Amino acid sequence: MSKVLLINGSPNEYGNTWTALKEAADSLEQHGAETEMLYLGKQPMAGCIACYKCVKSGTCVFDDQVNQVIERLEQYDGLIIGSPVYFAGPSGRLCAFLDRLFWAGGKRMAGKLAAAVVCCRRGGASAALDRLNRYFTYSNMCVVGSSYWNLVHGLKAGEVKEDTEGMQTMQNLGKNMAWLLRNMEAGKDSGVQRPDYERKVYTNFVR
Ligand SMILES: Cc1cc2nc3c(=O)[nH]c(=O)nc-3n(C[C@H](O)[C@H](O)[C@H](O)COP(=O)(O)O)c2cc1C
Repeated sequence: MSKVLLINGSPNEYGNTWTALKEAADSLEQHGAETEMLYLGKQPMAGCIACYKCVKSGTCVFDDQVNQVIERLEQYDGLIIGSPVYFAGPSGRLCAFLDRLFWAGGKRMAGKLAAAVVCCRRGGASAALDRLNRYFTYSNMCVVGSSYWNLVHGLKAGEVKEDTEGMQTMQNLGKNMAWLLRNMEAGKDSGVQRPDYERKVYTNFVR
């Protein structure tokens, strides 16, 4: 059975981000996928220090949750990343985590399904979603849609439950991801291979 890792990027373990992710997770489970939720905690999160050591080692010099996820990446066929909106972007701690996860482990993300989910009181959701989707579309992942953009509204923990359209968006995201995962399983069984990628060409616009 395909497995999806859901990452809760809010410091609130059971706040609105969790509520939205849980709705998507329940829907994934109902439609035949396994799920696992990862909470990143409240402690300070190291950001990328641009040491480039991961280019050779494939792991981060800060041996924390980033490496724990990298180690287990093979187990996951899909990834859903959730964040509260902070000043019209994802939470800083989550970006610090994702910069290192995708710099060190990005090549191993290829071919997985992905979606970002954000929750906010009022505004900035589109900018936050755009930032999160950039990790996926840089890494040969396939982004899954829903019946609206993946955002929910609420301030106090659990308030997003009242956002019925937002909750339905989460349910449909789960349905769509589960359906695509089943298609991928069927494809694999009938010999459909994942694309092969040539060595990445880097051009930095000055030469
Ligand atoms: C530092 C900070 C910045 C925030 N910035 C925004 C914002 O730009 N737009 C918005 O609508 N809500 C903003 N909020 C509200 C949260 O996004 C909102 O309460 C969200 O539901 C929290 O999710 P959680 O319960 O998972 O932590 C901000 C909250 C904090 C703590």
